[in-house]
Amino acid sequence: MRKTFIAGNWKMNKTPSEAVAFAKELVKSLKDSDTKLMIAPSTAALAPVADVIKGSNIILGAQNMASVEDGAHTGETSVLMLKDLGVEAVILGHSERRAIYGESDELINAKVKLAIKHGLTAVFCIGETLEEREAGKAETVCFDQTEKGLKDVSAAEMDKVVIAYEPVWAIGTGKTASPEDAQAIHKAIRGKIEQLYSKEVAEKVIIQYGGSVKPSNVKDLMAQADIDGGLIGGASLEVESFTALANYNK
Ligand code: 13P
Repeated sequence: MRKTFIAGNWKMNKTPSEAVAFAKELVKSLKDSDTKLMIAPSTAALAPVADVIKGSNIILGAQNMASVEDGAHTGETSVLMLKDLGVEAVILGHSERRAIYGESDELINAKVKLAIKHGLTAVFCIGETLEEREAGKAETVCFDQTEKGLKDVSAAEMDKVVIAYEPVWAIGTGKTASPEDAQAIHKAIRGKIEQLYSKEVAEKVIIQYGGSVKPSNVKDLMAQADIDGGLIGGASLEVESFTALANYNK
């Protein structure tokens, strides 16, 4: 049985002081939630937020990291630094990183492998654009990103991978994939994992949905057989809506 995993990707929102105040509210508000919970503040807010959520039922996630451990990489953040701060998971391959910062499948693959090597969970994002969906290529794009992003990741290491299916056209647009459309892709992705690894790995892997998830649609999405959680942007930025998402099953 896969445990539902609800994660907030705060993106480039909230200053460190705002993030601390918000995290304090969340710790109180989410203490009775029985879903697995993660918040991913900006890099600048990781350290103070780590102190706030220590010992709570919320794990700390980062939104990105470098593809190498250390060295002359001005402006980058190393996996070693994230670990030292108490980060347990890192979002990799987000469509904003792919589209705005030109991250390739190969770079994302290097990051995924490095995160796993250091014991972090890689929240590995995939998803098609509107153009690709309209051309009937949604599945092929997701399969291709999956295959390339997980290249040389072993079956045993898949314990440290969470897949986040985020159709690009649904991110921040208010347009959510219908539960049925999302389920169809989730099922196909799970099938791809079975083909690449095994039935056992496929049954275990958590596949989150992301793209305009909100309190009003979370229940129907989570009710789908292959949707195991949500990676949430906008609706994770308010205590009330993130709490409603975390407690969707109550
Ligand atoms: P929204 O929930 O704002 O659509 O963002 C989704 C997302 O990109 C999470 O990573």
